[in-house]
Amino acid sequence: MDLTKNLTLPELPYGYEALEPAISGEIMRLHHQKHHQAYVTNFNKALHQLSAAVADGDTSAVVMLQSSLKFNGGGHINHSIFWKNLAPVSEGGGVPPKGRLGSAIDEQFGSLEALIQKMNTHGAALQGSGWVWLALDKESKRISVETTANQDPIVTKGPTLVALLSIDVWEHAYYLQYKNVRPDYLKNIWNVMNWNYASAVYDKECPN
Ligand SMILES: [Fe+2]
Repeated sequence: MDLTKNLTLPELPYGYEALEPAISGEIMRLHHQKHHQAYVTNFNKALHQLSAAVADGDTSAVVMLQSSLKFNGGGHINHSIFWKNLAPVSEGGGVPPKGRLGSAIDEQFGSLEALIQKMNTHGAALQGSGWVWLALDKESKRISVETTANQDPIVTKGPTLVALLSIDVWEHAYYLQYKNVRPDYLKNIWNVMNWNYASAVYDKECPN
């Protein structure tokens, strides 16, 4: 890994207002330009410090940097997925999955509605800050609902897991619009869920 190669903030694949009314433009702008940017900036900073610590043979400094790398690197990984797994209604946001992913959901959860209910229940119950995931196990080909705390990426729940969908349940993702009513945010985010993205990941990982 080239430790001198900085991460950069990825562009949103749509405008800041494009997910309204489900998610306000004000939230999207702050979330992308301030929060995600901070993870990128702080990861790059920690990476440079790591490079110096390794060069100096400073084991204590290397160990001390691990939590910052995990938190900020995870923040970058998670948000980079999150932007892509949302889409404006005019671009297919909220259109239910068809094809093989749709069949897998029906088979494993009973129905799409049952899956959404399960993810929303997990999201509402998650204490503090974290993420709810629809994950695919690349080896068993099973899909599951997972949660991670803070900015832990999905691979912390299992090295063979990949994200099909993510929902950011940090307060910064909804508070300006939904205040303390996280369940309303969870209900409305499905109107802009990009099932095309989830299906593309599923088909890539389960090609037969
Ligand atoms: Fe976030």
